[in-house]
Amino acid sequence: MAQSVRNSEGTPFARTSSDVIAADSQTSQFERLGGVAGITRLVARFYDKVLADPALSPYFADVALDKLRRMQFEFFSAALGAPVRYSGRSIMQAHSGRRITGEHFRAFVGHLDETLKEHALSDGERKAIIDRINAYADDVVKPVAALDP
Ligand code: HEM
Repeated sequence: MAQSVRNSEGTPFARTSSDVIAADSQTSQFERLGGVAGITRLVARFYDKVLADPALSPYFADVALDKLRRMQFEFFSAALGAPVRYSGRSIMQAHSGRRITGEHFRAFVGHLDETLKEHALSDGERKAIIDRINAYADDVVKPVAALDP
């Protein structure tokens, strides 16, 4: 069934029935995270933690945070199998040249883990989501060979 998912500004994320991913188990996980409203709040709380972390906040100094939260909402929702299409840049493109280290990547994912703990997920489900996000490490972190000595 085609479903239109809208953010607070009414922008449709899923425009056609082909955008809808029929994955029952994943959709119910999306629903248990509170659907569109729940993931929107999850992303907001997650970035509150990231921006309150003095090691990470400088990365976001010149970033349009509303757009970033919107993109991250789409990305997480799509990663959870929700009927949402991610419309942003590739994860590699969005992070290239930002000199993000492995330590910063782990801190970022740690804040996500803490945020997910606030939701009714089993430990296994939470770890599965974190594994899915950790799989992007190579696209986010500056290649080791290019790190300063
Ligand atoms: C797997 C982990 C991560 C995921 C899935 C992720 C996801 C995203 C997404 C979806 C965007 C929006 C892209 C767009 O606007 O087209 C973005 C942008 C950004 N991310 Fe990440 N991110 C991750 C890790 C990190 C880390 C560790 C940092 C820094 C410590 C970071 C810093 C940024 C910044 C500064 C932007 C803004 C780029 C811009 O607007 O030009 N990200 N990220």
